Amino acid sequence: MNPLKRLGRRRASVLSLLAVAALVTPGAATAAPDAVRASTLGAQAAQSGRYFGTAVAAGRLGDGTYTGILDREFNSVTPENEMKWDTIERSRGSFNFGPGDQIANRAASHGQRLRGHTLVWHSQLPSWVSSIRDANTLRSVMNNHITQVMNHYKGKVYAWDVVNEAFADGGSGQMRSSVFRDVLGTGFIEQAFRTARSADPAAKLCYNDYNIENWSDAKTQGVYRMVRDFKARGVPIDCVGLQSHFGAGGPPSSFQTTLSNFAALGVDVQITELDIAQASTAAYANTVRACLNVARCTGITVWGIRDSDSWRSGENPLLFDRSGTKKPAYQSTLTALGGSAAAQRTGAPSPRSATALPSSFRWSSSGPLVAPKPDATHRIAGIKDPSVVYYNGKYHVFASTASSSGYNLVYLSFSDWSQAGSATHHYLDRTAIGAGYRAAPQVFYNTQQRLWYLVYQTGNASYSTNPDISNPNGWSAPRNFYSSMPDIIRQNIGNGYWVDMWVICDSANCYLFSSDDNGHLYRSQTTVGQFPNGFTNTVIAAQDSKYALFEASNVYKVQGSNQYLLLVEAIGSDGRRYFRSWTSSSLAGSWSPLAASESNPFAKSSNVTFPAGTWTRDISHGEMIRAGYDQTLTIPACKLQYLYQGKDPNAGGDYDNLPWRLGLLTQTNSTC
Ligand code: XIL
Repeated sequence: MNPLKRLGRRRASVLSLLAVAALVTPGAATAAPDAVRASTLGAQAAQSGRYFGTAVAAGRLGDGTYTGILDREFNSVTPENEMKWDTIERSRGSFNFGPGDQIANRAASHGQRLRGHTLVWHSQLPSWVSSIRDANTLRSVMNNHITQVMNHYKGKVYAWDVVNEAFADGGSGQMRSSVFRDVLGTGFIEQAFRTARSADPAAKLCYNDYNIENWSDAKTQGVYRMVRDFKARGVPIDCVGLQSHFGAGGPPSSFQTTLSNFAALGVDVQITELDIAQASTAAYANTVRACLNVARCTGITVWGIRDSDSWRSGENPLLFDRSGTKKPAYQSTLTALGGSAAAQRTGAPSPRSATALPSSFRWSSSGPLVAPKPDATHRIAGIKDPSVVYYNGKYHVFASTASSSGYNLVYLSFSDWSQAGSATHHYLDRTAIGAGYRAAPQVFYNTQQRLWYLVYQTGNASYSTNPDISNPNGWSAPRNFYSSMPDIIRQNIGNGYWVDMWVICDSANCYLFSSDDNGHLYRSQTTVGQFPNGFTNTVIAAQDSKYALFEASNVYKVQGSNQYLLLVEAIGSDGRRYFRSWTSSSLAGSWSPLAASESNPFAKSSNVTFPAGTWTRDISHGEMIRAGYDQTLTIPACKLQYLYQGKDPNAGGDYDNLPWRLGLLTQTNSTC
């Protein structure tokens, strides 16, 4: 972002040459390795804040091949049968936690999360329960079971499948007949969730079912209506588990839509029992990608380790064969998670993801979602330059606060975009970040150092660190990346400003990009080990005429591909802000145009629709909603979303006092 400067009036004549101007990359492009990649499913999923789990059978824990794979690959476990009613409370009031404890204790000592499965289910239910005909008796039996089991596993189970498989197959969209529904009525699910919340308020409470993956299925719709109703009435529910026992074709084409529609209700979604007949590479990769493309899809569990461990063993539906060797679907799963092909043991070729960005974009915009919240000591005209990560169930947004009296930073967090406007604004000038000129923040988590970084401009390129993103007071005082402005910038900046610092790392190096409001994008480099020190050797990464390559650059890794994406904000012939885009196979490489012209922009008022009303004609400084939150800045390849600053088209006057607001673009021409 460009502080302290008026940019309102532009002359079209300056801009007519811009659209075709090429970007140059001085110096030899070094072959940069891919972004940080892990070689196991769990570690790779963790890079985007997700888990990758498996069902575990207590009876197999003596098998060294089995436990070897379990501990190497998975960071979450679900007991396959050991926490079901017929194991835990085979006769009324007599609880057998032995097999469940075996799995729970082992998971705890191996740092694996535990999903509790399952409290109320019509199947694997002892006959003393299914033969109850009296509603009061059944209610107290059900509540007692939930309470005793949840109490026993308090602090150990991260999420419980409170109710399993309560809906009927077929076209009714209604609940299935079971002793619970037949004796207690359809309200039994609500009753179970309320009891569960009071038994262990810290556990996530999930509804879990199969055949709810296809959006248009009546069963899916029935479950969706129930969850919507629960959320509307405040019945406690935190997550929906989609079992995902798929046939050979894998997930239905609407799977991602289903995940995101549930998530939009304000619940997490999880793939809880994944297995796919014949385990084709594409079917597994498609399933994983659907989850990664939905911010609130928080984890994937496969229903067993080796084909021989599967309840569908005749269909070979899992990721390891009978001898424990990785199958091709293992590799496609790891690759879809963004992982390393180098981990391959089988020698089979690594399936190359076909996922790539389109060469033109269309978007739909929200209305203004975040406006300044001035208070007695913060006079703020505009909220600008947002940086955003989704972490731990929340969007964490950092932004510049602007007014003619100066610039500083603000932090807000919320679980849902519908809550963005009501979130509390924490002004960071009262923290160690301090008062004075601070602007254009960028936030990410450094996985090596286990620290959050906030990068921003102060005249120099500065940063603060914080072990806890949700604690606004945890940020350190500013430090500078450079001792002073690098010579190459000094020589090229002209009358511009040194702005918009941006850090991105691959597995070997970190790069610091910045702009000069004078047609140059700069890049400095250091090693991952030296970061945040050692940024030397600054070069011009791209150049064009001043307004064609103005400021607010973003650089991302595109998930599931070898592409990096560069966005740079330009000023159009109409004087309005818009974005151009380029791609490269390496962060230090040369950038090829993707949607890089005024007539085929990455995002401009001309390719954005405004269903809620055209509140801005500027699509200006912002950030993509990432697939993860670490230093690799990985974004999904599909259904992109971009948080940007816009303003009332009629607003004018002092640039620093313009009424910038934040809005969200959602890509509408995604083909995947
Ligand atoms: C299956 C187990 O894998 C089998 O070992 C057992 O015999 C039957 O149950 N939906 C569920 C799981 O929620 O609990 C089921 O697990 C598979 C279908």
